[in-house]
Amino acid sequence: MINIGLIGFGYWGPNVAKNIHANKELNLYSICDYKEDRLEKARSVYIEQTTYESDYKKLLQNKDIQAIAVAVETSGHYNLVKEALFAGKHVYVEKPFTSTVKEAEELQELAQELNLIIHVDHIMIFHPVIRKIKELIQNEELGDILFIDAMRMNLGQIKKDVSAMWDLAVHDLAIIDCLMDGKEPFYINSVGEKYYNPKESLCFLTLRYEGFISHIQSSWISPLKERKLIVAGNKKMVVFDDMKTAEKLMVYDKGVNVVSGDDIEYDDYVVKTRDGDVWIPYIKQEDALYNSINHFRECILENKQSISNPTQAIRLQKILESADEKMNK
Ligand SMILES: NC(=O)c1ccc[n+]([C@@H]2O[C@H](COP(=O)([O-])OP(=O)(O)OC[C@H]3O[C@@H](n4cnc5c(N)ncnc54)[C@H](O)[C@@H]3O)[C@@H](O)[C@H]2O)c1
Repeated sequence: MINIGLIGFGYWGPNVAKNIHANKELNLYSICDYKEDRLEKARSVYIEQTTYESDYKKLLQNKDIQAIAVAVETSGHYNLVKEALFAGKHVYVEKPFTSTVKEAEELQELAQELNLIIHVDHIMIFHPVIRKIKELIQNEELGDILFIDAMRMNLGQIKKDVSAMWDLAVHDLAIIDCLMDGKEPFYINSVGEKYYNPKESLCFLTLRYEGFISHIQSSWISPLKERKLIVAGNKKMVVFDDMKTAEKLMVYDKGVNVVSGDDIEYDDYVVKTRDGDVWIPYIKQEDALYNSINHFRECILENKQSISNPTQAIRLQKILESADEKMNK
């Protein structure tokens, strides 16, 4: 049994708490939030099944706690993760890992020196639909990837310490990183606007990778809530609609055929679109957050690196920092 202390019980912390609690091999040892109303909320759910603290240092000083889960605002991650590592705790931290690449590199080095695990909750790579898409790519069912188009939009929740791109596009970048085995873009561009917020609330990120291109839209000012991903290959194309309650993944046997041959004049070819079957693969329902937390547990037990480790987070944050430079020009 691994004892975990959770810091942050705001909007997302309750989901982390629920999934730690649901895992029979983890013990939600303590919940910490410096806002009394949030601690009251936690008490109303877990009553005597855990302990409650308003000072996170109590969790760090507690020798019975082996791991800390950090679910506070992004701007608070760096200090808490650093202190948790110095206190000898393994760390689960929400995305995005830190506010800068420099901070992320420092924490990565520290965790290595202290032989501790940092698991960044890039939750989407633990999503069963993303795992299925990866399987389809690996089995060459989609063919060569032509483009990846992602949309994450909603009305709110407008944040102060991060832009919509750092908050939302980080999920899509993690998906691309996972699907394409850590491939990095060689061209990055972005535009965004700072409506209602010191950071951008609406961002369009454009990426060029060897062999394919990608467009990622992140918005907190949309009338519609969308969570959509299109991965188009030259054989098949898939659409993942995470707003649907079932049948989230559709595989389209659609594409473009280039026809050439003896009956076609020299140097000439014919391009024909292909409109075939649509297939809905069976995907077992699993909670991505449960999977992410369980992977963290396995990494602690087996003393192995998380697949969602600081190295991956740094790859994503480097893209976000380059995109920020373009956006501010
Ligand atoms: N994985 C996902 O899909 C997902 C979804 C939403 C949010 N998140 C991430 O979760 C994190 C938290 O986001 P949120 O929307 O819940 O924020 P939030 O502002 O609603 O909640 C943060 C909570 O942490 C508490 N807190 C902050 N610093 C503290 C400290 N030093 N000690 C004790 N308590 C402290 C605050 O009082 C607050 O209650 C962010 O990193 C965000 O990006 C992840």
